[in-house]
Amino acid sequence: MTRHLLADDDLSPEEQAEVLALAAALKADPFGPKPLAGPMTVALLFDRPTLRTQVSFTAGIAELGGNPMTVDGGLAAMGQRECIEDVARVLGRQSAAIVWRTGEQRDVETMAAHAGVPVVNALTDDFHPCQLLADLLTVQEHKGSLRGLRVAFVGDGACNMGNSWALAGATAGIDVVVAAPEHYQPDTGVVARARARAAGTGGAVTVLRDPVEAVSGADVVVTDSWVSMGREDESAERLRVFPAYGVTSELLSHADPDAIVLHCLPAYRGKEISTEVIEGPQSVVWDEAENRRHAQKALLTWLLEQS
Ligand code: NVA
Repeated sequence: MTRHLLADDDLSPEEQAEVLALAAALKADPFGPKPLAGPMTVALLFDRPTLRTQVSFTAGIAELGGNPMTVDGGLAAMGQRECIEDVARVLGRQSAAIVWRTGEQRDVETMAAHAGVPVVNALTDDFHPCQLLADLLTVQEHKGSLRGLRVAFVGDGACNMGNSWALAGATAGIDVVVAAPEHYQPDTGVVARARARAAGTGGAVTVLRDPVEAVSGADVVVTDSWVSMGREDESAERLRVFPAYGVTSELLSHADPDAIVLHCLPAYRGKEISTEVIEGPQSVVWDEAENRRHAQKALLTWLLEQS
């Protein structure tokens, strides 16, 4: 059966743990344990800006002995010149897997339904599951294990990262606490899905308004941009609503003294995170950025093994 990663709960708790263990092994021995079987081509498509996703997939696929093939979205004019179903069938005949960053979740689902090869969501408006594998790997490295940790996600809980932390955190048995203003809380359907997952893992998902309450005693504090890609025309309203949710040294002082701070980047210093925090001793954002490569190498290897 062809497996995909379209949302974080496409991996069961056991599968997520397996991918993270492989990621750690690949990080320790980048050319070691499990190279791709043959020089496989992996198609990379980006309808939205990218830095970490493009470079980490490109470098990672090369390290696996594969061939990263970036498809020029402008030339392909997907959705205008050709429908997603047709693009999926063509790319599926030329590549072993397809990695796609776009807006609509239903579009990556359409791609997956027609490609015949694994499809990886490299960020949609709804989810960012590759980032979450890197985040969980980073937390595991710094905290030793995941189960039972308290993670506070502070800021725009309704964005891809808020939804993904709820789902992936619950899958890992983490106690995820999201602090977000009204109208910017995680999707209620996603929270229900995450709670159903948490019931089997010992995790939990709580949604609050108060950032101090959320951060209190947290082992990990996570934030993300207040203005996600595609939301630029809402900037003025968002910059009015979010300032109480900035991760500053003051807010961080309520967390566990050994808490670590994550941010998927790009970071807007002085807004969702202060310079002092992102440059400070509790910040692990550069490990997190590096871990995109290791986590995605593991994911591709695992998906191709299943399919
Ligand atoms: N929530 C952010 C994540 C960027 C990697 C966005 O969608 O722009």
